[in-house]
Amino acid sequence: MPFKPILSTLLLAASTLLVPPAHAAPTTTVTTATTGKEPITPVQPARVSNRAMVELGKQLFFDPRLSRSGAISCNSCHNLSMGGTDNLKTSIGHQWQQGPINSPTVLNARFNAAQFWDGRAADLKAQAAGPIANPKEMAFSHALAVDVLQSIPGYVAAFRQAFGNDRLGIDEVTQAIAAFEETLVTPNSRFDKWLKGDRKALTRNELDGYKLFKSAGCVACHNGPAVGGNSFQKMGLVAPYLTSNPALGRADVTGREEDRHHFKVPTLRNVELSYPYFHDGAAATLTEAVDTMARLQLGRQFSADENAKVVAFLKTLTGEQPRVSLPLLPPSTGKTPPPRPFDQP
Ligand code: HEC
Ligand code: HEC
Repeated sequence: MPFKPILSTLLLAASTLLVPPAHAAPTTTVTTATTGKEPITPVQPARVSNRAMVELGKQLFFDPRLSRSGAISCNSCHNLSMGGTDNLKTSIGHQWQQGPINSPTVLNARFNAAQFWDGRAADLKAQAAGPIANPKEMAFSHALAVDVLQSIPGYVAAFRQAFGNDRLGIDEVTQAIAAFEETLVTPNSRFDKWLKGDRKALTRNELDGYKLFKSAGCVACHNGPAVGGNSFQKMGLVAPYLTSNPALGRADVTGREEDRHHFKVPTLRNVELSYPYFHDGAAATLTEAVDTMARLQLGRQFSADENAKVVAFLKTLTGEQPRVSLPLLPPSTGKTPPPRPFDQP
């Protein structure tokens, strides 16, 4: 019975969680209520302190002119109409290139101890610089993105309003995008209502699923306000995970053999919306993802009934989606570098 020792190793892992970094842009604050002794805590609504900055960040998030093609925005792969993902196994980038890895949701990404599956970006601001210059994503350069924005008077005015000065560089771009992303939280899920004391918020079946999620050991890795996002853990702890995806996870950053196939534990908030699952997008349904997790991480085979209960619980983690009205983007001018959808990067 390998179950007991595994669970205690996991609990040990959970006690050495990464300390979440101080958030770079203090434009919003989210407080995390501590509710009794439950390992999951409610998500609180974001409070915005620099409205102009958040609005600018929203424009940039939706603006395809930050890509070489003029066709790909952050929202292309993190579609806020679809839980902040693209619902593809791996994303489609510049010139229909096949992306290397599944696109994680941007919803509640502010709770992540680090960004990306392998944690190579420390925070949202550092992360936002990546895709613009990534030849397989937006395939642009920071200098060109800044040239585009500087050529558009509407943007020059918006940056001045947000920052109170005339600086418009990649630093300001990524800071504004991060400020917008800080607001992308999903409070008031049925599970959070239950956590806050509304005992009728969950059905018997869903509550049974939560109890199983705890007793089976899922909470060792999936805990905190995001139900994940706060540690790196091995995918395939008890039995190896078979995939043709070459990503090594944390080892790609640290170069350490013991970090091979360690990935950032994904958030399970809104997991009902963020299919397909895992870094390679190989699990099409929650049923499949839960079955794989139980077997490979805990050495346990869930019955169909147990699996259905856990899935029912996971669906109660869908919160209020951010109400995002489509931003109007200021028009380009004769000085704006033209989009190059068919050029090689
Ligand atoms: C072509 C698709 C694509 C575009 C465009 C794109 N992303 Fe991503 N994004 C991804 C993928 C794929 C990953 C995961 C990459 C990895 O972990 O190596 C990711 C990761 C992230 C993460 C980390 C989330 C986590 O849980 O680790 C954030 C935040 C994010 N992107 C925000 C943005 C922002 C902001 C933009 C626009 C500047 C953007 N993305 C543009 C596909 C895309
Ligand atoms: C040892 C730590 C650990 C344990 C225990 C664990 N998980 Fe995970 N979970 C992870 C990691 C790491 C991933 C990402 C793996 C990957 O993509 O390669 C993940 C991914 C998932 C996903 C897919 C999320 C997504 O967006 O792709 C679901 C659903 C999930 N886990 C549910 C569960 C359930 C249910 C249990 C208990 C039966 C459980 N996990 C136990 C570490 C763990």
